[in-house]
Amino acid sequence: MYLELIAIILTTLFVWDYMKNRRHNVMYAAAGISGPRSYPFVGMAPMMIHESPKTVFDLQFRMIAQYGKNIKMNMMGERGFMTADPKMIEAIMSSQQTIQKNNLYGLLVNWLGDGLLISKGKKWFRRRKIITPAFHFKILEDFVEVFDQQSAVMVQQLYDRADGKTVINMFPVACLCAMDIIAETAMGVKIDAQLQPQFPYVQSVTTASGMLAERFMNPLQRTDSLMKIFYPKLLTKLGDSVKNMHSFTNSVITERRDLLQKSIAETGNANADLLNDVGQKRRMALLDVLLQSTIDGAPLSNDDIREEVDTFMFEGHDTTTSSIAFTCYLLARHPEVQARAFQEIRDVLGDDKSAPVTMQQLGELKYLECVIKESLRLFPSVPLIGRHITEDTVLDGKLIPAHSDVVILIYHAQRDPDYFPDPEKFLPERFSLERKGEINPFAYTPFSAGPRNCIGQKFAMLEIKSTISKMLRHFELLPLGEDVQLVLNLILRSSTGINCGIKPRVY
Ligand code: HEM
Repeated sequence: MYLELIAIILTTLFVWDYMKNRRHNVMYAAAGISGPRSYPFVGMAPMMIHESPKTVFDLQFRMIAQYGKNIKMNMMGERGFMTADPKMIEAIMSSQQTIQKNNLYGLLVNWLGDGLLISKGKKWFRRRKIITPAFHFKILEDFVEVFDQQSAVMVQQLYDRADGKTVINMFPVACLCAMDIIAETAMGVKIDAQLQPQFPYVQSVTTASGMLAERFMNPLQRTDSLMKIFYPKLLTKLGDSVKNMHSFTNSVITERRDLLQKSIAETGNANADLLNDVGQKRRMALLDVLLQSTIDGAPLSNDDIREEVDTFMFEGHDTTTSSIAFTCYLLARHPEVQARAFQEIRDVLGDDKSAPVTMQQLGELKYLECVIKESLRLFPSVPLIGRHITEDTVLDGKLIPAHSDVVILIYHAQRDPDYFPDPEKFLPERFSLERKGEINPFAYTPFSAGPRNCIGQKFAMLEIKSTISKMLRHFELLPLGEDVQLVLNLILRSSTGINCGIKPRVY
């Protein structure tokens, strides 16, 4: 009796699974997109058993070699395809129909709420419109001072280890600097992460970012319900960090709103500049733009603003950290590139290391820009992004079924020999002005592209130029320590650190 019942249940489940996938399978076959064998219920999970986040990059390269640049996937109920094909990437990134994120991003919701990175539809559209002016040229120009001051703190802290022998993992170093920068520019507060890494807010951001990376890699940590069963203590720790970050952001927002209201009352001007206690103009923070914005005539609530500020804090520190660290790593291992970059920096910024750097000078560091772009090609801070296709959509001439999850393999597309000759070589000249137009803009998308591209792209480039130029003015970077071992994560990291050595430059 029991056996019969089990047989009936199993048969029903198999039929249900088959029917559920049939339309997808037929449409993907018609679109000419194939992929590894998929088993009932679990999809291609069995082939992943021996893989880890360290081997997944190679696995994806092998799949591209076997199935082409569009690969069908079915993983534990997530059905769709991965793509490293610039034509397909262009179709997805350029379309308004494909801007919804997939559930990879669910991991971020506890911390970021429904902020710009995750939100969809009308909410995303309206928020994007009011947040865009926060990254206006004029506002960024004021931030250059912060980039310069915080990178100066970073180099001062590094002098202790500048003996030409000590191996330095640049990730945690750059991370504290990037955190200082984003807190001061997004919220208008100095958190002194580099000087007091034990400050509770800094600890919480570090803990939450590290745990997100861990959750991304471990299937048993993917959902809160699974974590409750397998890692209850870690879930509580994450919850405490998130609570702490929210309460910090809330208090900053409340304080800043009060300040703004005081300035408006004193000047009678709704767009008044913020004044400090002694009546001087304060630097605008990204948060101030949000405080002064309205949607349908109503100001944003503190909760609305908090999710955006938390999104800046997350998107604006780990990404730049990764890029600064990998750029130092590459410069250390390519002395000829380092020498040329240093010479340019000296020509543009001069020999007085304490003179403040301007936005215009950063703009003149053209070769350094090529170096950073090439570093982001080899080591994109965001190695993949996800989308969810809600209705049947034609993309690059292929009819893709509704409810498809898409993973755009930015890392793989940027190492495609069809688009980048000698793809593994670090060649900043690829991005030189003379060769402008040679790079397909959808083969190279470290900041994504189209309507859902990175809103902080210019901010990021200025920050990275500022920190790297500061490093090179003070130190010669040396090829010390283990090579990187890349780990596929929300943000590109290395399990062996992102190492180099340093020694003071004498000139
Ligand atoms: C090297 C540095 C950076 C890289 C490589 C980078 C890359 C990206 C990428 C690839 C996306 C698209 C994500 C997706 O489609 O899921 C994105 C979105 C975003 N980035 Fe960045 N980012 C960087 C720095 C920053 C900074 C400094 C900020 C803020 C200060 C920022 C804020 C955002 C926001 C808010 C979004 C969501 C935009 C939207 O969906 O409308 N990013 N970034």
